[in-house]
Amino acid sequence: MKDKFQLLKDRTALAMLGGGAARIESQHKKGKLTARERLLFLLDEGSFQEIGMFVSHRSTDFGMEKEKYPGDGVVTGYGTINGRAVYVFSQDFTVFGGSLSETYAEKICKIMDLALQNGVPIIGLNDSGGARIQEGVVSLGGYADIFYRNTLASGVIPQISAIMGPSAGGAVYSPAITDFTLMVKNTSYMFVTGPNVVKTVTHEAVTAEELGGADTHASKSGVTHFACENELEAINKIKDLLSYMPQNCEDEPARKEYQAKDESRIKLNSIIPENPSQPYDIREVIQELADEKSFLEIHKDFAENIVVGFARIAGRSIGIVANQPASLAGVLDIKASIKGARFVRFCDCFNIPLLVLEDVPGFLPGTDQEWNGIITHGAKLLFAFSEATVPRITVITRKAYGGAYCVMNSKHIGADMNYAWPTAEIAVMGAKGAAEIIFKKEITTAEDKQAKWLEKEKEYSDKFANPYRAAERGFVDEVIEPAQTRQKLIHAFKMLENKVVNIPKKKHGNIPL
Ligand code: HXC
Repeated sequence: MKDKFQLLKDRTALAMLGGGAARIESQHKKGKLTARERLLFLLDEGSFQEIGMFVSHRSTDFGMEKEKYPGDGVVTGYGTINGRAVYVFSQDFTVFGGSLSETYAEKICKIMDLALQNGVPIIGLNDSGGARIQEGVVSLGGYADIFYRNTLASGVIPQISAIMGPSAGGAVYSPAITDFTLMVKNTSYMFVTGPNVVKTVTHEAVTAEELGGADTHASKSGVTHFACENELEAINKIKDLLSYMPQNCEDEPARKEYQAKDESRIKLNSIIPENPSQPYDIREVIQELADEKSFLEIHKDFAENIVVGFARIAGRSIGIVANQPASLAGVLDIKASIKGARFVRFCDCFNIPLLVLEDVPGFLPGTDQEWNGIITHGAKLLFAFSEATVPRITVITRKAYGGAYCVMNSKHIGADMNYAWPTAEIAVMGAKGAAEIIFKKEITTAEDKQAKWLEKEKEYSDKFANPYRAAERGFVDEVIEPAQTRQKLIHAFKMLENKVVNIPKKKHGNIPL
């Protein structure tokens, strides 16, 4: 018996070493943690339960039968984060560069199946050289098995991917299907083809970091939602993110305890500048409306003209989508539409109510936008809001012009409560442009054209640069003093908490992709 127990101990000790001490040292030298260290930081102390510690590959080509490591390059199992169950897999770069073999894929698939079956979020920590080259097509098949499960799980359980090393080739498509991706600056990269292939095909000289590093994907492509300074920051961000989400699509996000107090926020009365063309930072509004320090911005450096993120109002988890007048005047463009739409859909999948803060001059004009499909992409945001069945509230802080008025969670596309501040301007377009079009004849034939234009601009502005026309129609439910907004939102979200929507029976919608 003693020998048998000792054998288990020895085998376990071997598994703990992954690819061996030298490779662990090399991992540390690169500023990276090992797969097991990452799990230690991610999960509650002592909560990790490993599955498949002794799985090893079946490959016999290229002398592989002589080189085996227990676990085969990925650590899988389950545990808790702040007391909540999660399933995890953590790729081990010290074993064959974390490359994915047939058995490695089977381990991940087993975890994914369990997560889906039990309605529990899944977190993947990625650090891999891609398909295990010695295995050929069975490795590719393993990837496809994972992609298929990512898709089945989408909208059922939250899926989070942290990229903590290489993620190249088709391997990038698993993180891409998941809900949120985090990258670590300088030690992680993602690309479909690396710098060498790029050089050969397009003759562009580019480093791995420039091509697919964290900053690139956080600001240029939007592939990652977070660019973290180091692995610990990424791990803490995963925990933060998770705190706003429910376990699955049939669950509600956990509420934080909240003591009601004076909810008026007088600072809100002075954020909007006197001059309607002057920018302000919508984050200042968000800080006042949300519970203290509860705002977690997502996709911060991508499409900065729209701000999205999670927050809490009276302890309740909400998703915020807000035009940002401090960037491109808050205009909607292709990237902003895609960013907003994806976030709205996540919130809708997982029963997270939506708050929209609107100050939008319209869609961005120009050949670049038109030729790249602002029509299709703008429609994504419209579609995403229209199909969302979670409680939806809009606050128009200033401009709500043109098509953007309709798109930004208007009453007409199913918003539940629409508020406007007295500074709201709800019209087809700004007064200057409107006057030029509808009073063209009067302006061009006037003796003093400039004076006539100003007079007509004022006439249009007096009529429409306010929230009352919309309020008269009931398109706006209430015009409110900004300082009272938080109070109103607390009441309204509570009033809407049992919202049920019956949508027409369908297989699934066909969002314009
Ligand atoms: C098997 C691999 C491997 C792989 C790395 N290793 N990648 N073994 N299959 N894909 C092994 C190395 O042989 C080495 O073993 C160890 O991992 C560490 O690799 P190094 O090259 O020493 O590390 P580093 O210098 O940090 O470079 C990391 C790397 C590089 C950039 C990832 O290893 C690399 O370019 N690997 C190949 C990447 C690749 O082309 N993958 C296939 C992509 S296509 P030892 O024994 O020396 O420690 C793909 C298709 C997926 O993935 C399709 C899905 C649909």
